[in-house]
Amino acid sequence: MRRIVVAVVIPLIALVSAPLAAQKPEPKPDAKAIEHGQKVFADQRCSMCHSVAGKGNPKGPLDEVGSKRTEEEIRQWLLSPRVMAEKSKSERKPAMPEYTKLPKADLNDLIAYLRTLKKK
Ligand code: HEC
Repeated sequence: MRRIVVAVVIPLIALVSAPLAAQKPEPKPDAKAIEHGQKVFADQRCSMCHSVAGKGNPKGPLDEVGSKRTEEEIRQWLLSPRVMAEKSKSERKPAMPEYTKLPKADLNDLIAYLRTLKKK
């Protein structure tokens, strides 16, 4: 009996589950979210205080922020900049404003965009 189970049931499970596993989408950066995040960055005038690829305020380059900061840290910077400035001992003025009123989707896409700014 046991041999039948091994011989029949196990290959059956493998047969059924293989195509299911193959259907799983690859986790890749969502191009639409990133593009929208870049727009949020421009609309919110982050470049008054920050620069990306040489555009904007050179005092606050964000070119490598995706390598330097985790998603969670970037979120904290946007939502509780005072706490983060204290933690990283930043005394730069004007200080980073809070972006707590930004719609959640805008915030998420903005973070997705910032995460693409990595050390080359
Ligand atoms: C009024 C100026 C100002 C504006 C506007 C501003 N920031 Fe900042 N931001 C700062 C300052 C000051 C810091 C602290 C780091 C430093 O000393 O450069 C900072 C830090 C950050 C950090 C952490 C950087 C690091 O190297 O760890 C991120 C990420 C960031 N800002 C993103 C943004 C984004 C995105 C926007 C627009 C939604 C924005 N900032 C708008 C002033 C500003």
